[in-house]
Amino acid sequence: MANEKGPIGVFDSGYGGLTILSEIQHMMPDYDYLYLGDNARAPYGTRSFEVVYEFTLQAVQRLFDMGCHLVILACNTASAKALRTIQQVDLPKIDPERRVLGVIRPTTECIGELTHTRHVGILGTEGTIRSHTYDIEIGKLHPGIRVTGQACPLWVPLIEGREYDSPGMDYFVKKYIDQLLTRDPEIDAIILGCTHYPLILRKIRQYTPEHIRLIPQGEYVARSLQDYLQRHTEMEERITRGGHCRFLTTEHPFSFNEQASVFLGRTVNAEHVQL
Ligand code: DGL
Repeated sequence: MANEKGPIGVFDSGYGGLTILSEIQHMMPDYDYLYLGDNARAPYGTRSFEVVYEFTLQAVQRLFDMGCHLVILACNTASAKALRTIQQVDLPKIDPERRVLGVIRPTTECIGELTHTRHVGILGTEGTIRSHTYDIEIGKLHPGIRVTGQACPLWVPLIEGREYDSPGMDYFVKKYIDQLLTRDPEIDAIILGCTHYPLILRKIRQYTPEHIRLIPQGEYVARSLQDYLQRHTEMEERITRGGHCRFLTTEHPFSFNEQASVFLGRTVNAEHVQL
């Protein structure tokens, strides 16, 4: 199995990673993909470092066991809290030839070109914001940029609970954006630092002043992955090509299928998996 080719694994706590998957598939439609949503244990955003790390490692291990050589953590919370430890501690023991990549780095690399005022806002889960991963990464690459993070703890539960069109969603979207812009009125670019947020992009746009650029991550992650595969042909050669995508969820497949079909605009037939 270790030498056989396999699909690209894409992992998220729930539905959010679909926003990354669709951009990756759009840019690289020929590869096969295996998506895993840990919907039964979402949200991850309010969970401790130890728990997010443990859950993420279980998911990565499962995707490896199912033949993936490369796994994308399409989840900022997992990228902020678990990626480094998995890369540095676990991968050398599991299989040094396999790779796990996150979603934070690709966006932070591009942010320098996307702000004029050099004041950037980050919207994310409590876990992502508290980890200060964005501030640290942006600080390393673009030392002159001021970063202000705003945790939006109720957005993911509302999205996972399919309340994205409810008045409650409007209330909390406005509340967190107002809080962010009160803390730094000079912000002219906001990174949607949670893969769930593009699912409510319309609402976020509605409550954000027009001159502020909203930056979903999908396009940047997809471009960075394409670039990675061009530079690492040994990995590229280990990916199967057929244009197929298989979906796994730790919740009941029925609700996943319904939701994922709406988000992706095509029929989804997920399988249940226990981690
Ligand atoms: N979509 C994930 C992220 O990018 C996780 C959200 C959650 O489970 O709280 O952070």
